[in-house]
Amino acid sequence: MAEYWMDWASLLLRWLHVITAIAWIGSSFYFVWLDLSLRKAAHLPEGVHGESWSVHGGGFYHVQKYLVAPGSMPKELHWFKYESYFTWISGFSLLAVTYYWGAKAFLIDSSVADITVMQAVGLSLASLALGWIVYDLICKTPIGKNLLILGFIVYVVVVLAAYSYSEIFSSRAALLHVGAMVATWMTGNVFFIIIPNQKKVVASLQRGEAPDPALGQQAKQRSTHNNYLTLPVLFMMLSNHYPMTFVGDDLWILVGLIVLIGAIIRDYFNAGHAGATGLRVRWQWPIASILIIVLAIWAKPETVTLNTNQIVTDDAIQTIVTTHCAGCHAAQPTMAGFTTPPKGVILETLVDVQKYKAQVHAQSVASQAMPLGNMTQMKPEERAMLGYWLENN
Ligand code: HEC
Repeated sequence: MAEYWMDWASLLLRWLHVITAIAWIGSSFYFVWLDLSLRKAAHLPEGVHGESWSVHGGGFYHVQKYLVAPGSMPKELHWFKYESYFTWISGFSLLAVTYYWGAKAFLIDSSVADITVMQAVGLSLASLALGWIVYDLICKTPIGKNLLILGFIVYVVVVLAAYSYSEIFSSRAALLHVGAMVATWMTGNVFFIIIPNQKKVVASLQRGEAPDPALGQQAKQRSTHNNYLTLPVLFMMLSNHYPMTFVGDDLWILVGLIVLIGAIIRDYFNAGHAGATGLRVRWQWPIASILIIVLAIWAKPETVTLNTNQIVTDDAIQTIVTTHCAGCHAAQPTMAGFTTPPKGVILETLVDVQKYKAQVHAQSVASQAMPLGNMTQMKPEERAMLGYWLENN
C-alpha cells in the first residue's frame, strides 16, 4: 500500500518540480535576453546602462537597467528567488522519494558497488554538499577572474563527477546525480551568492552609500554559469526516461558531450540576443548537430552476438522472463515491495514480451536498466539471448 501513496507523492512532486523549474528557467531566460537586448541611447538618465523596448500582452514595456543600482531605492522592488529555491526543494524531495526510498531498486546496482541503503543515501547527500563546496571554492580563487579558464575547470569537475558517480551508483542514478549536483550549484549560486549580494547592494543604497561593484561582478560570474548549465541539466533530468543514455562506466563521455552541446546551443541564443551576426552566430548549430550525431552513434548498442553453439529456444526465453522480469512485471507481483506491475507493464508470457518488444529491448538488451538495480542478477549472456530472440521474433 505504501507504494500507492509514494506514487502520488512522486507525481505531485514531479508536477511541482516542472512548474517551478519552468518559472525559474523562464524568468532566467527572460532576464538573460533582457540584459543582452539593452541598448545605449543618448537620452538615458544618469546611472542607466541601457534600455530595451518590447511588446507583449497588449502593451509596450520600456525597461532600463541601472548599473550597479539607481541613486535611491525605488518604492517597490521585485525579487526573483523563490522559483529557484522551490525548484531545488521539489527536486531534492523527488530524488528522496524515488532514489532514497527506492534505493535498492533505483540507486544501488550491486554489480557496480555493493553498498547498503544507508551508505548509498549518505554518499548521495555528501556528494551534493561536497560538489557545492568544491565548485564554490574554485569560483572564489583567483582563477574565477578569468571566465574562460574557470569555465573549463568547472567543466572538468562535472566530467570527473560523472565518472565517480558511475563507480558507485546504478547508471541511471549516476546520470541523474550529475544533473542534481549541477542543479544544486545553480540554486546555491542564487541562494548563497546572487541574492545576498543583491541584498548588500540594497542595504548600501538605503544607507545612502555607493554599492561595491565587485558584488555585481561576482553575481554576474555565477549567473553566467547558471545560464550555460541550464540546457545540460535539463537533458540530464530527462535522460532517466531514456535507457540509451545510461551507458555505465562511460557515462563521463556522454556527460562531457552533453555539457558541451547544451552550452554551445545556449551560446547561440546569447550571441543572437546581443545582436551578433555573421560567424559569431553561425558556428553553433552545425557544431552542436555534429556532436549530437557523434553522441547518438557512440551510445548505439552493439548488435547482439551469440556463441555459435548457443540455441535460443522459446523455452529458454520464457525462463529468462520468468526469472528476471515477472517477479515485478506480473498482474500480481511476487517481488517484495511491488503490489502492481510497474508502469502497467506485464511481462509474464512471450506474447507479453512481443507486445513490449521495443521497450524490453531498450531496457534490458541495449541498456541494463532492467531488471531494476539488476536485483535478479541477469547475466550478459541472458541479455544477448533475449536480444537475439527479440530480433528474430
Ligand atoms: C525489481 C522489480 C523489477 C524487475 C525484476 C524488472 N522491472 Fe521493469 N520496471 C520496474 C519498475 C519499478 C519500473 C518503472 C521504472 C520507472 O518508474 O521509471 C519498470 C519499468 C519497466 C518498463 C517500462 C519502461 C518505460 O518507462 O516505458 C519496461 C519495458 C520494463 N520495466 C521491462 C523489464 C524487463 C524486460 C525486465 C526483465 C528483464 C524487468 N523490467 C524487470 C521494476 C522491475
